Amino acid sequence: MILVTGGAGFIGSNFVLDWCAQNNEAVINLDKLTYAGNLENLATLKDNPRHIFTHGDIGDTPLVSKLLAEHRPRAIVNFAAESHVDRSIHGPEDFIQTNIVSTFHLLEAVRAYWLALDAAEKSAFRFLHVSTDEVYGSLAKNDPAFSETHRYEPNSPYSASKAASDHLVRAYHHTYGLPVLTTNCSNNYGPYHFPEKLIPLMIVNALAGKPLPVYGDGQQIRDWLYVKDHCSAIRCVLAKGKLGEVYNIGGWNEKANLDIVHTVCGLLDELQPRPNGKSYREQIIFVTDRPGHDRRYAIDARKIERELGWKPVETFETGIRKTIQWYLHNQQWVRHVQSGDYRKWVEKNYAERV
Ligand code: NAD
Ligand code: TYD
Repeated sequence: MILVTGGAGFIGSNFVLDWCAQNNEAVINLDKLTYAGNLENLATLKDNPRHIFTHGDIGDTPLVSKLLAEHRPRAIVNFAAESHVDRSIHGPEDFIQTNIVSTFHLLEAVRAYWLALDAAEKSAFRFLHVSTDEVYGSLAKNDPAFSETHRYEPNSPYSASKAASDHLVRAYHHTYGLPVLTTNCSNNYGPYHFPEKLIPLMIVNALAGKPLPVYGDGQQIRDWLYVKDHCSAIRCVLAKGKLGEVYNIGGWNEKANLDIVHTVCGLLDELQPRPNGKSYREQIIFVTDRPGHDRRYAIDARKIERELGWKPVETFETGIRKTIQWYLHNQQWVRHVQSGDYRKWVEKNYAERV
């Protein structure tokens, strides 16, 4: 079996669902259930004995050591993290705690477990650390996309904390020989995406008749990857990745934020027209920019394609249509998410913007 951390979050839950649908190997899912962790994402696995959920923190060494000793996973995929840049600006401490300190404790528990394995298990074992393109910093308009050797230049507390965790993972390979793999992926979108991030927030606000808040001039560029493609890339790296290597994962879909919002509005106009017949575009407003806002991210994903044969299946056009259809068909999920902490967060984040 494998151990997945953060498997009740956006990408982790998509990964666990796909994993259980595609093979017979069991998954232990360790998640702290922060505001971003939602067991409703895993509702279809309720009666599946191959999914074992454990509520807990990756930094809780006795708990992690017990789980490892009991279940003896052959691999760990580490998704657990605080992941929202705006939250890291308002309150960096949780990011330092989970992304750095708890990741360190996880690595220590895993190292002790790995050292005690027999030779065959030891060489087959993998620790896959899921990271982000944001560790590489911000690109100018005509700069080449981030390759795996681009220097680390993180600009937000979120990206700095993820960079620190990447360095720890690297060090555990070089110093202790822990068999690690690291992936750095661009912005994901798709089902179960918490509506604090750009795409789900725009869908949910548009349908609720609320403003669509674009930061600054809306010309910041991100590369977008459909979440199921990210999950397939992780499975591919887990199966075929070379120990100690880093793989950049991206969708070859560089888009300006404002274009993303226009695309979302255009699709909603087609799939769920407003009662007054006007476009959702009328709801777009421009608000104060994010401090230290990175201007452009772009991923050079040629290494994973060349060495491991992975490529995304979805284009942005197919993926965004599927995503919007998912939100239209899962309004109850949206309502449940909105009834919790999320509301308080939205008030805090937008109250200070003009
Ligand atoms: P998310 O915020 O939706 O989910 C994170 C999950 O981790 C939640 O279920 C949360 O409860 C859990 N968690 C948080 N702290 C924990 C702790 N200390 N112990 C155990 N569980 C804990 O995040 P996501 O968007 O699914 O991202 C998953 C991973 O992928 C993160 O490491 C993130 O940095 C990385 N990543 C995300 C994106 C993206 O676009 N969302 C892109 C590239 C990389
Ligand atoms: P986000 O989804 O928070 O991801 P990240 O900051 O990790 O790239 O934001 C994506 C882009 O959208 C980013 O440039 C910030 C911008 N943005 C807005 O313009 N308005 C919003 O309300 C949000 C949440 C994000």
